[in-house]
Amino acid sequence: MLLAQISDTHILLPGSEHPAAELRADCLRRSVADINRQQPDAVIFTGDTVQHGMAEEYAYLRELLAPLDAPLYLVAGNRDDKIAMRAAFDDQAYLPGDGDFLHYVVEDHAVRLVALDSTSPGERKGVFSAERLDWLDTVLKEQPNRPTLLFIHHPPFDVDDHYLGGYRRPEEAAALTDLVSRHAQVVGLLCGHVHWPVERDWAGTVARIMPSIAIDVRKGVDEVEARERPIYMLHRLADQDRLDSQFRMVASTP
Ligand SMILES: [Fe+2]
Repeated sequence: MLLAQISDTHILLPGSEHPAAELRADCLRRSVADINRQQPDAVIFTGDTVQHGMAEEYAYLRELLAPLDAPLYLVAGNRDDKIAMRAAFDDQAYLPGDGDFLHYVVEDHAVRLVALDSTSPGERKGVFSAERLDWLDTVLKEQPNRPTLLFIHHPPFDVDDHYLGGYRRPEEAAALTDLVSRHAQVVGLLCGHVHWPVERDWAGTVARIMPSIAIDVRKGVDEVEARERPIYMLHRLADQDRLDSQFRMVASTP
């Protein structure tokens, strides 16, 4: 199974005065075109999809994502407004129609996809409350032998001095790590939020954070050849328990 991951596009309205508005739209547009050329089985989007959580931004985001051939699975980031996001994508059957959390499980692929909502209105940090962890534990107990990929906007661990204490309560992050370490079928965790590429052994598996698609807020990618080029990730489940991941740099011109 081949999975593409995009994250942190921070899309702005075309009429925005923000200098990066068109650049960010262009980064996503070019990434979508390149993803289609790779023909993945699915695309996951690990949050911070738009900048201000506005309905108009989501309408524009939908337009930019419309050419994607593969099924798309969205996770909310702290920049997202869950109500506006759910309303804009209300035709997506995997998104829960009500409740406080945009958690879900996708059973349609060779790998079971589990999305955990780490956002809370007005909170920039990751929230891994007991209610959320109970949901995750229940879901993981349902199919203990099926390879499962977990995705969350906020990484539940510190990243050097770039991302310290990025979750509301350290004990919640520790509880999430404990929980996942008890479920051996989890083949990886995919995150966004930090805008910085990181790979880390975590909870008996591997966690990968991808850089932001929006290159004006991207960190940790200094190569000259990459400066003008959006980067996304491709993840391939090579066998039952190994996830091969690579960064894909999009060509300079569409
Ligand atoms: Fe972000």
